[in-house]
Amino acid sequence: MALWGGRFSQAADQSFKHFNDSLRFDYRLAEQDIIGSIAWSKSLVTVNILSIDEQKRLEQALNELLISVQQDAAQILQSDAEDIHSWVEQKLIEKVGDLGKKLHTGRSRNDQVATDLKLWCKAEITDLIKAISHLQLQLVNTAEQYQDAIMPGYTHLQRAQPVTFAHWCLAYFEMLVRDKSRMQSTLARLDVSPLGSGALAGTAYPIDRELLAQNLGFATATNNSLDSVSDRDHVMELLSNASIGMNHLSRFAEDLIIFNSGEANFVELSDRVTSGSSLMPQKKNPDALELIRGKSGRVFGALSAAMMTFKGLPLAYNKDMQEDKEGLFDALDTWHECLAMAALVLDGLNINHQVCLNAAKQGYSNATELADYLVAKGIPFREAHHIVGEAVVGAIAKKKALEELTIDEFKLFSQVIEQDVYAILSIESCLNKRNAKGGVAPIQISTAIKKAKNSLNDS
Ligand code: ARG
Repeated sequence: MALWGGRFSQAADQSFKHFNDSLRFDYRLAEQDIIGSIAWSKSLVTVNILSIDEQKRLEQALNELLISVQQDAAQILQSDAEDIHSWVEQKLIEKVGDLGKKLHTGRSRNDQVATDLKLWCKAEITDLIKAISHLQLQLVNTAEQYQDAIMPGYTHLQRAQPVTFAHWCLAYFEMLVRDKSRMQSTLARLDVSPLGSGALAGTAYPIDRELLAQNLGFATATNNSLDSVSDRDHVMELLSNASIGMNHLSRFAEDLIIFNSGEANFVELSDRVTSGSSLMPQKKNPDALELIRGKSGRVFGALSAAMMTFKGLPLAYNKDMQEDKEGLFDALDTWHECLAMAALVLDGLNINHQVCLNAAKQGYSNATELADYLVAKGIPFREAHHIVGEAVVGAIAKKKALEELTIDEFKLFSQVIEQDVYAILSIESCLNKRNAKGGVAPIQISTAIKKAKNSLNDS
């Protein structure tokens, strides 16, 4: 039976009922709804709506229900209740009879759903932070394993300067540090309880909302009842965080797809995260990575959908807001799954050291070193840049790398070039020189790995 039958003489049309009901997705808020209800029952004692004994009976029945949904959440989907709030109330009444009908005194589904969703978000943030940390750990371990794997670094997807595979891993580690801190700051902002805001104007019972908030594990209670029931900032924030996080994962996937291509052949993906072609027997496709890249689209879509849904809503609650949940659930599930999948991809990754090194040596990626060498010999950088540009053209014409030019050939471009140029042009020297904080020098990388590991242990 619906919660609101009194005013109606006709039953809802079946198609409208299906259209309106949210149980098929908001069943995921069952635990939060029950926990919120237990806290609310305690508040009702303080305003003499429930006796201590009545509250105990309600609490016991709600706890039984909690255990039952923790064991089998799918049972909820068998019901034709309108939403999770109706379902919990219905079940409670089945258990304790008329006493169950007292629970909704002074409460509205509007402050209830806002509370449930915030409680759900808090738990989800904790889980997502763990999933981010797991991927970070995998990145650091991979970095440690491949500290000496030199590969080309790119700008414009053109070989630019040599880097190491470890440096690449740590770049993604840093993105995840920011993803995590965004989640932490969202958590701090949403940790404010809307319960006791009523439908929109506040509850008519003199409830200590701060105590109620505390009982629910919130840092504090909201300040304005209109805002409390219509605030979905946390939904938009989490979808933004998820979108930025998926943006990172999508770039990670794209990099590895390129590294894994036949053209680059820098890495080999494990059989555990690839699949074959039904026609071409030789194929091993990077499906896990392509799906991570592809699924980012639906997460960005959920963010736009939420923005569009909320932007025109007058205060306070409107049924449009029921649309907040499916996109949020789907986006956060997707992000979570992609974080785990990215970690699994790294777990079985193999680097083709020699191919990476050869590629790093090609493409004149030590040209900047030659320019710096000329600068050290007193030539202004702009002029040095021009000379090296000419030397690169000369080397291309001779089908040689820069370090393969003879001293006589070098002297055609600048008289100041001497024998000592060869040491400067070695790939090791390219790396070692970049020894300022954040650079690719092996000393910097091992320091960065240690720091990254410590930060994971601390958190
Ligand atoms: N199922 C609703 C939602 O998800 C719960 C709140 C309903 N409130 C109401 N006044 N109809 O938003």
